[in-house]
Amino acid sequence: MPGNLRKLLNEEKFLLYALVRMYKPKRMIELGVSEGKSSLAIALAMEDNGFGLLTSVDNWSRRHGGKAGGPQKAQALLDSCGVGKHISLVASDSQEFLKAQKEDSQDIVYVDAGHDYDEAMQDTLEAIRVAKEFVIVHDSKNLKGVRDACLDIEKGFFIDAGRGYWLYRIPDVRWIG
Ligand SMILES: C[S@@+](CC[C@H](N)C(=O)[O-])C[C@H]1O[C@@H](n2cnc3c(N)ncnc32)[C@H](O)[C@@H]1O
Repeated sequence: MPGNLRKLLNEEKFLLYALVRMYKPKRMIELGVSEGKSSLAIALAMEDNGFGLLTSVDNWSRRHGGKAGGPQKAQALLDSCGVGKHISLVASDSQEFLKAQKEDSQDIVYVDAGHDYDEAMQDTLEAIRVAKEFVIVHDSKNLKGVRDACLDIEKGFFIDAGRGYWLYRIPDVRWIG
């Protein structure tokens, strides 16, 4: 990684970089882009891996640390660091986007969009459906909504099967978060 890029990325982004170097995803989705720093960490790792395609989704809504105004700032950062070929930015709601993805179609899904309980729960459950290998959830320790959603998913969850039956499903999920 060129030295001047190190300045852009803090310790947390370096960990994301290291995970992508370690698990070498061919296809990966990121939910929550904001100004593109986590996208940059992932795309730099893909560049150093020699392959990888990242689809990064944000509605640039100003919520949860987001900046309004669309993908321009993130795109400029990624282009200026020469990693644009690994990434496409998509302006969409995370749920709408994930629901349109096929089961097991991605190696890794990185979740860092809505941080309320319901948002984190829905995004993470969809991410589990779409990811083959790993779901990485950001802020799963420090933000209550995200943490509670992860704990509830980890414990298992009930599915209403109708006619008074409830199924208890243990998700087959490997966590990094
Ligand atoms: C914490 S920021 C992402 C930070 C980025 N991953 C990083 O580390 O540099 C969360 C982002 O999620 C976006 N967001 C919030 N709710 C969303 C939703 N329902 N669909 C898509 N994006 C959403 C916000 O616009 C914001 O840019």
